[in-house]
Amino acid sequence: MEKQTSFVLQGNIIYTPDKDHFVSLKDGYLVIENGRITAISAQKPADYSSLPLKECSGKLIMPGFADMHLHAPQYIQIGMGMDDQLLDWLDQYTFKEEPKFADPNFARKIYPLLVDELANCGTTSAAIFATIHKESTDILCDTLAQKGLRAYVGKVNMDTNSAPALTEDTEQSLADTEAFIQKWQKHDLVKPIVTPRFVPSTTAKMMTGLGKLAQEYHIPVQSHLSENPGEIQLVKELFPEDKYYMSVYERFGLFGQTPTLMAHCIHLSDEEIDIMAKRKVYAVHCPASNLNLASGLMPTRKLLNAGVNVALGTDIGGGHTLYMPHEIVRAIEISKIRSLYHPEETPLKLCEAFYLATKAGGAFFGQTGSLEAGCSADFLITDIPDFQQDRTVEEQLQYFIYHGTAQDIREVYVNGRSIKKQTI
Ligand code: GUN
Ligand code: FE
Repeated sequence: MEKQTSFVLQGNIIYTPDKDHFVSLKDGYLVIENGRITAISAQKPADYSSLPLKECSGKLIMPGFADMHLHAPQYIQIGMGMDDQLLDWLDQYTFKEEPKFADPNFARKIYPLLVDELANCGTTSAAIFATIHKESTDILCDTLAQKGLRAYVGKVNMDTNSAPALTEDTEQSLADTEAFIQKWQKHDLVKPIVTPRFVPSTTAKMMTGLGKLAQEYHIPVQSHLSENPGEIQLVKELFPEDKYYMSVYERFGLFGQTPTLMAHCIHLSDEEIDIMAKRKVYAVHCPASNLNLASGLMPTRKLLNAGVNVALGTDIGGGHTLYMPHEIVRAIEISKIRSLYHPEETPLKLCEAFYLATKAGGAFFGQTGSLEAGCSADFLITDIPDFQQDRTVEEQLQYFIYHGTAQDIREVYVNGRSIKKQTI
């Protein structure tokens, strides 16, 4: 990891301070001091002449991406079982693959590959599900910390309706989760997040214990919500006394009592959407996964209009790519398809989808995901081909998002430290 975290960076700068605007500077300057952005200016900042200058003329500088929902163990099953829908796919693939992570040596082999690919794809922050296994989950955290990525990591909890190899003893699972929280809660980059897999795989006793842990230690929560009609029906059968799927999480202290991420949130009534907005629960839209598992078309515009915080996630292995620009494009495409059938739901603009993939998710970690003064210096430096040099910076970003690849991402920084460097 590079030590130097104070410097001045020059290049074509672009970010979204809010969801409706890009701010861009051609040949602008970012001042980075102790891993934070302290100034941004169009001219070379005279006050900082003592800091080294990193010149990146003709390159694009943008915030790193926040992948707010992915399953680390499912790196090994990407692309498999995509002819099935959620519940069959979980039974046929996921619940057969995840037990492999009971072996720490297997985790040691796989997790570095995932973490390297995340950094290479320009993901600087991530909210990650591990597995039920405490040792492997620690290995994932160690790997992320060593790489220098910013992450929330969850030891997954499951004590019912699962394959025998993934069914935990409730007390042991809660004890393991508490030990995991205690181990990682003070780390500056890699932090614990309470992670019941989803309502069908956790008993009331488990959820009661997890809600207590989240509140006692002030730890955020992540899970899945209203992804698939069969899943929603199953939750109704398991918890008939609760009005909505989300009411189950809410009752157990797992829905906005501490900051909460809920993946998918596709099939919601207007009242449920309002509850999410009131409780400030994030909906994490996972476009590729929703298409692969034929889960549905996320009504992103409707959620945004209702004031729900929306972020983006890859959801590998439901999703098949770790490269967030593909998810940005897919989120826009899905919103365009929805607008054909629901004209009041206007399609997402690129600045909105880019915002969801950077500042919206980044906000879950504090001041990250933007290039404003005060934000952590989490950013990417990407190539722009010669034939695009005379475009506006916004056009250069459009080209990169739609046509760029991970190879075009030359450098990746978290807290002003380089975590990927390609030599040309
Ligand atoms: N719901 C419960 N577990 C999972 C999972 O692993 N992936 C997805 N997409 N949905 C889930
Ligand atoms: Fe998921």
